[in-house]
Amino acid sequence: MVTVNNGLKFYGEYENIMEYKFTYNDNYEDFASGRVIYHMGGEPTFPVRLTLELYERCLQYSQKKKDIILYDCCCGGAYMLTILGLLKGDTISKIYGSDTDSKRLKLAADNLGLLTEAGLMRRKEELEAHYATYGKASHREALQSVDRIEKMLSKDIETEVFYRNVLVPGELSFTPDMIITDVPYGNMAEWSEGSGGINQMMDALSEICSKDTILCVCMDKKQKIQTEKYVRLERQQVGKRKFEIYRK
Ligand SMILES: C[S@@+](CC[C@H](N)C(=O)[O-])C[C@H]1O[C@@H](n2cnc3c(N)ncnc32)[C@H](O)[C@@H]1O
Repeated sequence: MVTVNNGLKFYGEYENIMEYKFTYNDNYEDFASGRVIYHMGGEPTFPVRLTLELYERCLQYSQKKKDIILYDCCCGGAYMLTILGLLKGDTISKIYGSDTDSKRLKLAADNLGLLTEAGLMRRKEELEAHYATYGKASHREALQSVDRIEKMLSKDIETEVFYRNVLVPGELSFTPDMIITDVPYGNMAEWSEGSGGINQMMDALSEICSKDTILCVCMDKKQKIQTEKYVRLERQQVGKRKFEIYRK
């Protein structure tokens, strides 16, 4: 239902105007997918500013403000995780990503490798070789981005990617402080290995969340979370997407 209140449109309980509370409309081109961060053709990308905003909002709810153990249970190529490792690394101690797709897991490992000096230098050598061969401006600009990103690496963050079907309950070797995930929707990948979709995921995840874990799920407008296992802390529509933040 759409209601109009003081000129602002509300869709049910979702506010349709995204107000960024913690992040600026900065230039994030150094982090564009495919520039330094690896990109696989056809892979979805997620806006950098929105990724940072979601993390900051979750951090507000989190008891812990540093040494965060961050997990994305549908990590794809770990674009979101890599952005957070690069730009919020001072508050993060460990990053875990899991997915069911082996190609995406390989991409995720390569991207999370960029959070280390050695991984970033490997990427620099690749880009230098591309620039020497093709002389493209895009490769030169990517090399300039590498130099800026290198200055941001303050510490090595421990990272791990692994296969896991998020629809199946089970234990993990760690308890995440924060889960931020962008689930399959539309042409942005489909649910695999299960038919229960987002609510099956929420049920399965409740087994690995502590009472302090903050969980942020991004989805399309059609997906509806109905759960009694969590308390919803906020929800917001952003263009075609919406996100909801939960705690048990
Ligand atoms: C929208 S993409 C995530 C993109 C990711 N956030 C990034 O930053 O690159 C959704 C991902 O969910 C994965 N997926 C689909 N079904 C899954 C399942 N049952 N368990 C775990 N991951 C699944 C897909 O392989 C896909 O990589």
